[in-house]
Amino acid sequence: MKDVRESKDFHLGVPPQNEAFFLKGSNSLDWGMKNRLARIFEPRSGKTVMLAIDHGYFQGPTTGLERVDVTIPPLLPYADTLMLTRGVLRSMIPPTFGRGIVLRATGGPSILKELSNEHIAVAIEDAIRLNVSALAVQVFIGGEYETQSVGNLTRLVDQGNSCGIPTLAVTAVGRDMVREARYMRLACRICAELGATYVKTYYVPEDFETVTASCPVPVVIAGGKKLPELEALRMAHSAIQQGALGVDMGRNIFQAEAPVLMIQAVRKVVHEAETPEHAFEFYQSMKAEAAMV
Ligand code: R5P
Repeated sequence: MKDVRESKDFHLGVPPQNEAFFLKGSNSLDWGMKNRLARIFEPRSGKTVMLAIDHGYFQGPTTGLERVDVTIPPLLPYADTLMLTRGVLRSMIPPTFGRGIVLRATGGPSILKELSNEHIAVAIEDAIRLNVSALAVQVFIGGEYETQSVGNLTRLVDQGNSCGIPTLAVTAVGRDMVREARYMRLACRICAELGATYVKTYYVPEDFETVTASCPVPVVIAGGKKLPELEALRMAHSAIQQGALGVDMGRNIFQAEAPVLMIQAVRKVVHEAETPEHAFEFYQSMKAEAAMV
């Protein structure tokens, strides 16, 4: 019999590829989980610009999201990931969007009621049908329905793990909570300990690096209420410098004077480590150019 080595190349001198996965705390995950995370986090930079447009799930037609079908499609080419409800996804987002979808998977109370009283609002089968990259669950540490919301997290982690879908724990800061590093450390760590694949929290100006350091999985920051554009870019930059692996930003993008330029400026800070001042210069000059046309 002819030796197969004569016609085949087994690359015997090349050691097998065994690279660690690029995301913090994610190396032991299964292939499907990693593949979905790689649709959320840009593998080259290891970071993400998530565009959050899920606000309607508890506050109705938020300013800037009155007509998602009009205002959001121009932003899609610049979003690594879209975070939203299944209602808006099915009704207003073109299925040709090829990056990550993070599906809002809890809900219940409106702004008129106690917000922490949430339940799981999506069946895992529907999340699979929608081909989502992660499930997002609100966790109210210290809130009135803390245990219930932690229960939502752990149930979604179990369901997500069973079919390779990551879980994003969103640390919701109740009205009575102080927005400081001590609280964020507590909330983020609890979410990670209980199985969240990654965690979203708020940036705090003091000791934010202790929040990211003590959380064993990736942390991304929410944008929060609308700030002047340069301030929002400074916040994103500081968070990244202090260990955040991205932003999940909503109002500071879709309520900006020029949302399409703002999301590009945010990308510069997050993916290219540009200074907020440089990114703002880009934003301002492109806005001025557009005004002249
Ligand atoms: C709020 O609960 C929503 O889940 C938003 O996704 C989140 O707050 C991020 O949006 P923003 O940057 O507007 O705060």
